[in-house]
Amino acid sequence: MIPTLEWTPEGVRFLDQTKLPLEEIYVLATGYEDVATVIRDMIVRGAPAIGVSAAMGMALGVKNSEAKDIPALTADMEHIGKTLAATRPTAVNLFWAIERMRLHFLSLAPAPGATMATIREGMIAEALRMYDEDIAACKAMGAHGAELLPQQGTVLTHCNAGALATCGYGTALGVIRAAVERGHKINVYADETRPYLQGARLTAWELLHDGIQTTVLCDNMAASLMRQGKIQAVIVGADRIAANGDVANKIGTYGVAVLAKEHGIPFYVAAPWSTIDVKTPNGDHIPIEQRSPVEVTHSNGRQMTPNGAGIENPAFDVTPAKYVTAIITERGVLRAPYTESLAK
Ligand code: MRU
Repeated sequence: MIPTLEWTPEGVRFLDQTKLPLEEIYVLATGYEDVATVIRDMIVRGAPAIGVSAAMGMALGVKNSEAKDIPALTADMEHIGKTLAATRPTAVNLFWAIERMRLHFLSLAPAPGATMATIREGMIAEALRMYDEDIAACKAMGAHGAELLPQQGTVLTHCNAGALATCGYGTALGVIRAAVERGHKINVYADETRPYLQGARLTAWELLHDGIQTTVLCDNMAASLMRQGKIQAVIVGADRIAANGDVANKIGTYGVAVLAKEHGIPFYVAAPWSTIDVKTPNGDHIPIEQRSPVEVTHSNGRQMTPNGAGIENPAFDVTPAKYVTAIITERGVLRAPYTESLAK
């Protein structure tokens, strides 16, 4: 299994995704501030992985806290949660995980016989539970979604929604893995995913690692390949799914979804329940992270645009629910109208 992130007695160990595919380097976060930096700098990325990383960051912060009593530890825990929440705004899994850890702390603290030690152990146990649940959810998505993919054909994916974006196995790539394990003959087209190249660097790396046939496309090639009948399905992950089924995912996803509809190709979204944000009514209310212009102006340290050019760098876009053929979750496959299927 690809070791995206791991709890160790010394801290949380991350595979440094900024260095892939050329180098496999690990980073050890020994304090919650390090975990916040690892998330902000995209050493770990992908909505479910960000969520579990934050949970481990909460556990680590509470473990290391120098608080002398439970009220002081509670105050530290709240501060740790706020620090981790200020890292990236779009993936709702981050806020879901912090809130789950926070509520867990608040359930442990007043329990009869609670001590600083039992609270610390309880927080670590909860983070490890979330890690295991994430892998189980990915496997369940794979089981629910595999048969939606063709027995034989090419599936396009955008960004990286794989083992590297989760605690292992992946959401969209988990469904592809499950289909391949069931004997489907699938080739994957991985959109390169400008500007951060999660598709070219990460999706291609992890699928080839598992022996799954992968071809990297520049982001502007999908239309032509769809018109030639070379793509049978599209599957992507999500950073946040609103109550009406609108999907925030990596910038460029929306364009792929529109193209898929035009060409009569199914467009699937695979995401765990922790990505669904029923409190957000539709995609217009999803905060979209804006990242540094340098990611667009420079490639491999080399300037690609003239000085003075205006630069846009939204990290995510919103695909309206009408383009989504189905949402694959660990609880099953949801179809439109999503307002009803998500509420159920
Ligand atoms: O900016 P990133 O790399 O964190 O963006 C990741 C994505 O957009 C993924 O598609 C999404 O988080 C789903 S990961 C299972």
